Amino acid sequence: MNILLLGSGGREHALAWKMAQSSKLSKLYIAPGNAGTSQVGTNINLNPNDFDALKKLVLEKGIDMIVVGPEEPLVRGIKDFVLNDAEIANVPVIGPNKKGAQLEGSKEFAKEFMHRHNIPTAGYLSVNPDNLNEGLAFLKTLKAPYVLKADGLAAGKGVLILDDLAEAETELKAMLDGKFGDASSKVVIEEFLDGIELSVFVLTDGHGYVVLPEAKDYKRIGEGDTGLNTGGMGAVSPVPFANEAFMKKVHDRIVLPTVEGLQKDDIPYKGFIFIGLISVDGEPMVIEYNVRMGDPETEVVIPRLKSDLVDLFEATAAGNLRTKQIEFEEQSATTVMLVSGGYPGDYEKGKVITGLDAAKDGLVFHAGTIEKDGKVLTNGGRVIALTAFGNNKDEALIASFKNANTLNFEGKYFRKDIGFDL
Ligand code: AMP
Ligand code: GLY
Repeated sequence: MNILLLGSGGREHALAWKMAQSSKLSKLYIAPGNAGTSQVGTNINLNPNDFDALKKLVLEKGIDMIVVGPEEPLVRGIKDFVLNDAEIANVPVIGPNKKGAQLEGSKEFAKEFMHRHNIPTAGYLSVNPDNLNEGLAFLKTLKAPYVLKADGLAAGKGVLILDDLAEAETELKAMLDGKFGDASSKVVIEEFLDGIELSVFVLTDGHGYVVLPEAKDYKRIGEGDTGLNTGGMGAVSPVPFANEAFMKKVHDRIVLPTVEGLQKDDIPYKGFIFIGLISVDGEPMVIEYNVRMGDPETEVVIPRLKSDLVDLFEATAAGNLRTKQIEFEEQSATTVMLVSGGYPGDYEKGKVITGLDAAKDGLVFHAGTIEKDGKVLTNGGRVIALTAFGNNKDEALIASFKNANTLNFEGKYFRKDIGFDL
């Protein structure tokens, strides 16, 4: 089978690395990919949001399946595009259609979905310029801190958590006035939930599903979870507090009602569901849905998966995931992300990365890298994820940090406290 994987981050390198191990795979193409994905497949310089170019590629290369890494092509309707084109309609897409992708593409849609299907989540009100006064009144009924979320995709920047009511009122108006462009033409105000977060990943064909190992990521740039939000600075799997009793609650109250809710709402869904959870006094509540895998969570979840990922994708496409059991490694996996100096603010690209061959006892997943004249250069804010295994997270972290010190590029930064709160 020939597979086209869309995306270019550490998540895509991890997915490509895993798919490349399958005996079911003939050729793997990654568009656009990075210097790491070119070690396990063929990179194609193509924008995943350019659907016409994708169609040409699918026909030219005889692609049998498209796996979508990031959310944007899904929210823009790549699945609907493929399904509605007679020449490629038979090529399965791993990822939901435009309607299903609204679980990530619209916070209001996601909240209404949870509300409709009794899935535990924070209380909320969706506000637009027409009910601003209602929004301001709702804020007054809440206790600090105040959570404001741009309804649409805002490159991970659309959530504000504010300590002061007056500031929350000002920001609400600024958001509706276009602070995040169209994405904040609606704003979801949420009750603040206090607890510890984790991520749960489900692969579903719309009926059957498998639950992948859970993970915890570290989003803030600074140690002790301080400073600006990033795409993610590191991750750990498994998550010690997510014991059997907790995961049973997650399954019964969240995973099952989510898959059944999609059915009740007539939303066919073949792809990943990433459930961002918070444990409030041991009770799981949903913070958000994403319609893809997480990054850097994929860099710890996928290495723990023993089952054949291409086989699971095939079953997803065929609708017989129900017949599949997944197996995963009991060991802990950790990943530490090396980022460019200045990230998540301005940073420079094109720095030479050294020490790649010296990394030992772990996996090196490229994120923002590019190959030029035989050298690997930095090409993004998040550059490389260093994954390692151990009998527990602390053992795994020793190996991840060792490689984080071995690899080098000008301006390299990484958090030295991944897993500190577990
Ligand atoms: P989201 O984009 O919805 O995942 O929000 C980004 C981050 O904001 C989450 O990972 C949480 O750390 C935080 N957050 C979002 N919603 C809430 C909430 N209702 N209560 C507390 N923290 C939240
Ligand atoms: N690591 C969080 C995300 O992928 O959205």
